[in-house]
Parts: sequence; structure tokens; C-alpha cells
Amino acid sequence: MNKDYGRYFKKPSTRDARKRQGTATENIDFKQHTNIRNMGQGKHYLIQTYGCQGNEADTENIKGILEALNFKETMKEENADIIILNTCAIRENAENRVFGELGRLKKYKRTNPDLILGVAGCMPQEEDVINRILEKNTHVDLVFGTHNIHKLPEYLETALHGKERVIEVFSEEGHIIENMPKKRENRTKAWVNIMFGCDEFCTYCIVPYTRGKERSRQPEAIIEEVGSLIKEGYQEVTLLGQNVNAYGRDFSNGYTFADLLDALGKTAMPRIRFTTSHPNDFDDRTIEVLSRHKNMMPHIHLPVQSGSNTVLKRMNRKYTKESYLTLVDKIKSAIPDVSLTTDLIVGFPGETETDFAETLDLVEKAGFEGAFTFVFSPRKGTPAEKYTDVTSHDEKKDRLKRLNTLVNAGYERGNKRFLDHEVEVLLEGKSKKDDTILAGYTPHNKLVNVKADDTMIGRLVKVTIREARTWFLKGDLLEDA
Ligand code: SAH
Ligand code: SF4
Ligand code: F3S
Repeated sequence: MNKDYGRYFKKPSTRDARKRQGTATENIDFKQHTNIRNMGQGKHYLIQTYGCQGNEADTENIKGILEALNFKETMKEENADIIILNTCAIRENAENRVFGELGRLKKYKRTNPDLILGVAGCMPQEEDVINRILEKNTHVDLVFGTHNIHKLPEYLETALHGKERVIEVFSEEGHIIENMPKKRENRTKAWVNIMFGCDEFCTYCIVPYTRGKERSRQPEAIIEEVGSLIKEGYQEVTLLGQNVNAYGRDFSNGYTFADLLDALGKTAMPRIRFTTSHPNDFDDRTIEVLSRHKNMMPHIHLPVQSGSNTVLKRMNRKYTKESYLTLVDKIKSAIPDVSLTTDLIVGFPGETETDFAETLDLVEKAGFEGAFTFVFSPRKGTPAEKYTDVTSHDEKKDRLKRLNTLVNAGYERGNKRFLDHEVEVLLEGKSKKDDTILAGYTPHNKLVNVKADDTMIGRLVKVTIREARTWFLKGDLLEDA
């Protein structure tokens, strides 16, 4: 606490965030705030979301909390009484964009002095970012992190009525808050958190510091949530966690990710996906369960990061190129037409041209049908920030370009294999470019454009693929769909 900043002033500490204290995770029920239910009467909010699906799911909670307090959403900045940026800290350019936005949004404080400008998500979990906000972004009124979203009603009360600046970020702990209000973005597919945090500590990554220790939700709570989504007519769920294959590692009863998948596979949810998998914890039972249930979608995102064993070791990924390829073979023999995608980092400190050639070789051998590729970005407080890095930025850019050429060929190959095939598509909405075209995804997660009436949105239909481009497929709706 610091009296200069009032009641809610707690900064994060990288040192505390690093600790894993082994304390039991508590499951806490969200506290309804009936006394301040009308706080948002006549007021509007706008949220910008950056980063991963974890943040998208958190934004749904933030919106749910705001709507429970009677705030309404607006898309227009000039109409907003609250603007919150839900931020990502994974790479430097993600952070720079947010600081740029904070600068740009300052003008709305002049036209509306009561505007609350807030920063949430992973960036506030970093000590340095908080210091920068305190020193250089004094127009920010509200800062909270990933562990205390449930306290938003209290913070707003202080910021709105007490006109005090609120900065509260917890580092060391993270419990699980059940039954937070949620405003889902999509009526067809839903995110379902199965676990929070990460204990892997890959040497380049900020996530274990910003999201805290690994905590799994109770299986009953997850199964119940999926059950309600089925009743509400949802067609697809994506189970979320930084390393979903480690689900249950913090229980003492031996319940694993495979058990959870098996239970969900028996439900009437038409499509089940999950992200992200860590190759290390992807066990044989998981593969067996995936191959047995029809509602488990045949697309697996399996980040490999690098194909060089020396680089993987320095990244603390705890597997080798060979063991990764063995896992790929196992998955492919159990689920023969599976589509695999991955994440890759180029220019990790010490990566030589020979190391990079190993990555290219692995990408070819694994037959990825897509990848997110990144240039290494040093993150403050992580071990890799201090590793010696002699490769020039131009060289790294060149590696990225060469890698992307190979990755893009994989996208195209992955799409071409469906030419003239009949596939099932979950129609999600209108295509961005053409109003008469609907867009949706196949079980293998391929984007399909098809001419269809917008009354079909939210339905699973059969489509014959007529054209395969690198980034999408085009098809015709089957008459009997
Ligand atoms: N938990 C997930 C990924 C989280 S971050 C997993 O382990 O797969 C998403 C991706 O961002 C990572 O897979 C990695 O490829 C990339 N990434 C993370 N930290 C990075 C950094 N410091 N520089 C560049 N890319 C990074
Ligand atoms: Fe980061 Fe590694 Fe955890 Fe993924 S598994 S979130 S890359 S530390
Ligand atoms: Fe970014 Fe935080 Fe997700 S750092 S990638 S928003 S966990």
C-alpha cells in the first residue's frame, strides 16, 4: 500500500511472480455486487483486446462484469465512459502498440474528463510497465492484472465515485474464480478455460510471470459449463490453457487431460478443440482418446519453436527434434488425416545458420499445414533476455522470410488436399469482402467461403470444395445440407 495513491495501490514484482509456493489453489465463487447493480446506468464501455485466446476469454468476463453493473457496450470511442485495453506482453511490438494507443486515446480525456481509461491483462503484470504508466501515462485511471479481474466492480466504484486512481496488480497468487459473469462474443463457438497459468518457464517467455502458477479447474465445473453451452445451442468449444496437456498435474487424484477429453467426448457437443499443447506432456492416452471420439476435431496445434536440439535445450523446451518427430508420427498413425500446425521462433540468441537449417528440415518432415512464426523478442526478467545474441536483425529477418516461404507452402498443401472433397463447415458469419458469402471452418480448421443465406449462420453444413487457395477454400453448399 502507498498512501500517495490511495487504497488500491499494489505493484507487481517479477521476483514474486517467479516463485511457485506450492500452495493449494482455492476455487472461489464470484461475489455478486447487488448494491452497485446500477452503477453503469446510462454509461458505455469499450474494450480493445490484444494477445491470445486467454485474453479473449478474459475480455468476455470483463464485459460480463460491466454488463452486470448495467454498462452498455459501444464501438465508438467518443461515446465511451470507460475504455479498457486488455493487453499482451509476449513480444515488444505488442507492448509498443498499447503504449501508442494510450497516447492516442488521451484526447478523449479532454472532451470527456470523466472518462475512465484502464489497462488490464498481461502488461500490468510486469514491474517495468507499471513504472512506465506511473511516470509517463498519468492519464491512465485504472490498472488491474490477470489475477484480479473479479475485483473490477470495487475498482470502478473507487475510480468513478471516489475519483481516485486505482492500480492493483497481484503477482504471487492466483486462485480460480468460478461463476464470473460472461458476455460471449460468439453464438456458435465458445472458449472454455480448463486451466490457468504456466509452470514451464521456457527461457524466452513472459507468460509464467504474467499468468502465475498452473491451476486446473475442477472437471465437474468444466463439464457443467460445456453442458450449458450444449443447451444454449453452441456447436463448438475450444478448451483453453497455456499447456492443456498438463491439465490435472496440480490435482492429487491422478485425473489427467485425457480423462477430461474422454468425458467431454461423450457429451453431445458437436465439435471440441483445444489450445495450446506442449509436446512434452502429450501422452499416448490423449492420442488414443482423440482418435476414438468423433467430436474431437482432427487439428492439433503443437508448438515446436525450433528444430535445433541445442536451441531447444537453451529454450528449456525439454524435448528434442527427434522426440518431437516421433510424437508427430504417433499422432499421424492414430489420426491419419490430422492437420498439424505449430509456432516457431527464429533468431533465438545463439541460433546459427546450421541451427536454422534444422528448423527448416523439421518443418518439412513434420508436414505442418500452418504456423505462427516470430522473431525472438527479449522479455525483461526472463533468462533469455541475458543470453548473448550476435545475429544481426537483418539476418533474423531473412531467416523469417525463408521460413515463411516454407510454411506458406504447407498452408497451400493443406488446403489443396481437400479439393473436390465433401467437408463439413460450421458457418460462422458473413465473409469480410462479400455480403452474400458466408465463412466458416472445417474440422481440420480450414477456412471455407460458401454462397449461402445468412439465416444459415450457426449451422453445420456439407460443402463440396471447388477451389483451394493458400489461405482459404471456396465451395458449394450441398443441396441436402
Ligand atoms: N503456451 C503456448 C504459447 C504461448 S505464446 C505454448 O507454449 O505453445 C505463443 C507463442 O509466442 C509461443 O509459442 C512462441 O512461439 C511465441 N513467443 C513467446 N515468447 C516469445 C518471445 N519472447 N519472442 C518471440 N516469440 C515468442
Ligand atoms: Fe510460455 Fe513455454 Fe509456458 Fe508456452 S509453455 S506459455 S511458451 S513458458
Ligand atoms: Fe499475451 Fe498474456 Fe496471452 S502475454 S499471449 S495475452 S498469456
